[in-house]
Amino acid sequence: MEECPLNGFYSPAQRERYRQALPRRYSCRAYRGGPDADQLAALHYAAARVCLPGTRIEIVPCPEKLFLHVPLVEPIRGATHAAYFIADKNAYLPHTLAGIGGEAFVLEAAALGIDTCWVSGTYRRSVVDADLTENERVVAVTPLGVAEKEPPTVRKRKKLAEICTTPPENWPLWAYQAAEAVRQAPSAVNMQPWRLSYAQRTLRLLGKRADSLDMGIAMLHMEAAAGDAPHLWQWGEDKCVAHLIVEENP
Ligand SMILES: Cc1cc2nc3c(=O)[nH]c(=O)nc-3n(C[C@H](O)[C@H](O)[C@H](O)COP(=O)(O)O)c2cc1C
Repeated sequence: MEECPLNGFYSPAQRERYRQALPRRYSCRAYRGGPDADQLAALHYAAARVCLPGTRIEIVPCPEKLFLHVPLVEPIRGATHAAYFIADKNAYLPHTLAGIGGEAFVLEAAALGIDTCWVSGTYRRSVVDADLTENERVVAVTPLGVAEKEPPTVRKRKKLAEICTTPPENWPLWAYQAAEAVRQAPSAVNMQPWRLSYAQRTLRLLGKRADSLDMGIAMLHMEAAAGDAPHLWQWGEDKCVAHLIVEENP
């Protein structure tokens, strides 16, 4: 079994920053401007540090017409910059790895006051101007900028009980908080395709597709919210994407 590269990758300070930025992140589609020079420098710094091996992030001036307008979804407009989430197709679970680092980047941006929107479907592949090696693929993009409007007050999400296989009120606090952080995570078409089960110090992330951005995003949220106790990630098998094992006080 492959070693999970998330183990020890993010410092306690990064995990705490991500935990605090979680409630601030939402999918912003209307921007009034881009990051200023300081914010852009900080985004470049973050992009160079948050990506797991086999993935990387490129920040570019937003190409014209990068985003497709689709019926019933607010068009993405006004962003001066964009980021490309890039994965090496030969890595183990490349989309999941890109989801982990990509969400860390999105939360670094939120902590800097920069808004984002994960986009893996509604963008024009033909205008993406990333400098890719033979094995690399752009797996998603995001606009980067400052929101034109106030953030929405309501998040449309499943209830915690719907994503947990047993009542999470009976779980230890770290597992409950990690599950709640997964509940708040963004997902493609807001499908929230994850389930969580807890037993014997282990929180399991379950899903139909182990290699997906959504699963990586959920893992990053679990990593951010699981608390200070020593913990270990292991990849799962079949419907279990990954296990998070935490040292609990007796
Ligand atoms: C992997 C991923 C792909 C997404 N792709 C698109 C997309 O192609 N177009 C779009 O407008 N929004 C896209 N979204 C944004 C989701 O629709 C959004 O995260 C979800 O509705 C939850 O809303 P929130 O992010 O405001 O909490 C994507 C989100 C994720 C996580």
